[in-house]
Amino acid sequence: MDLSVNLSGLHLDNPIVPASGTFGFGREFAEYYDINILGSFSFKGTTKEARFGNPTPRIAECGASGMINAVGLQNPGIDAVINRELPELKKIFHKPVIANISGFSIEEYAYCCERIDKEEQVGIIEVNVSCPNVRHGGMSFGTSPEAAAEVTRAVKAVTTKPVYIKLSPNVTDIVAIAKACEEAGADGICLINTMLGMRIDIARRRPVIANVMGGFSGPSIFPVAVRMVHQVSKACNIPVMGCGGVSSARDVIEMMMAGATAVQIGAMNLKNPYICKEIIEDLPRVMEELKIERLSDIIGIV
Ligand SMILES: Cc1cc2nc3c(=O)[nH]c(=O)nc-3n(C[C@H](O)[C@H](O)[C@H](O)COP(=O)(O)O)c2cc1C
Repeated sequence: MDLSVNLSGLHLDNPIVPASGTFGFGREFAEYYDINILGSFSFKGTTKEARFGNPTPRIAECGASGMINAVGLQNPGIDAVINRELPELKKIFHKPVIANISGFSIEEYAYCCERIDKEEQVGIIEVNVSCPNVRHGGMSFGTSPEAAAEVTRAVKAVTTKPVYIKLSPNVTDIVAIAKACEEAGADGICLINTMLGMRIDIARRRPVIANVMGGFSGPSIFPVAVRMVHQVSKACNIPVMGCGGVSSARDVIEMMMAGATAVQIGAMNLKNPYICKEIIEDLPRVMEELKIERLSDIIGIV
C-alpha cells in the first residue's frame, strides 16, 4: 500500500500536512508524538516584523461544528524564525517544511519570501493572501484576481522554490483568483483559509471574541472546502493542497478525490493533538476498505 504523493517534485511519505497556525513550529506537538511521521507541515504565518496579534479572547469553540479565531498573525517575525525557530525545528523534524508567509504590502511578501527561500529546510513557500493590503484600504489581497496575481509575480521574481498561493474562501469567484495566480506563475494553490464568521455570547451580550468577527474553521467548513478544491483543480493545471474541516482519514480521501494532492489539517489539531497521527495510522485501513492501492491514483478522480 502506497501513501506517498509528489508535491511539485517534493516526495511526501503521506499527504498529511498540519495547517499553518495550528501547529506552531512543531515543538509542542513533538512532545506528543514523533512529528517525522507527517508528510510535512506548514509553520505559523510569518511576517517581516514580530506581531503580538489581536486582543483576547481570540479563539472560541463553536459547539461540535468548529471554532472561530482572530489570532491576528501572532509570530516572532522573519529574523527570529530564521535565526531561532528553524535551527530548533531542524533538531526535531527531518523533512522539508512548508513556510507560510504573510504580508501587508507586496514588498513585505517579497522581502519575507526572498529570505525564507534561502533556508535549506524549506521545501515549499506558501503565501497567505488573506491579509489586508494596508496601502489599499485594508482589502485582502486574496479577494481580487489582480492583487493575488501581483503578490504571486512579486514572490516568484525573488524565489527559486515552489510557491503555493493560499486562497481565502471569502470571495465570489474562487476560480478566477486561482487562475490569475496560475497565470502569474504560481506552482500550486492551497485552499481554503478560514471563512469569515461571528458568534455572540448571549449571556454577556458581547461577541465571543474581542475582534468581533473572526475566521471560522473546523468540520463545518468541509463541504465548502471540497467544493472549492474541486472547482480549482479542474480549472487549473497546477497542484492543489486541500484544507478546511478535515477530521478523518475518510475526509482525506474525499479531499483527494476532489483534486487535492496533499491535505492540510487545521482546527482539529487544537481539539485533538493526536489527530494527524491517528489519521496517518487509519489511512491504510480505509484504503483497504475502499480498494485503493496507491493514494496518488485517486487525486482528482471525481
Ligand atoms: C488558530 C488558527 C490560526 C491560523 N493561522 C494561520 C496562519 O498564520 N496562516 C494561514 O495561512 N492560515 C492560518 N490559519 C488557517 C488554517 O491554516 C486553515 O487554512 C483553516 O483553519 C481551515 O482549515 P481547518 O478547517 O482544518 O481549520 C489559522 C487557523 C487557525 C484555526
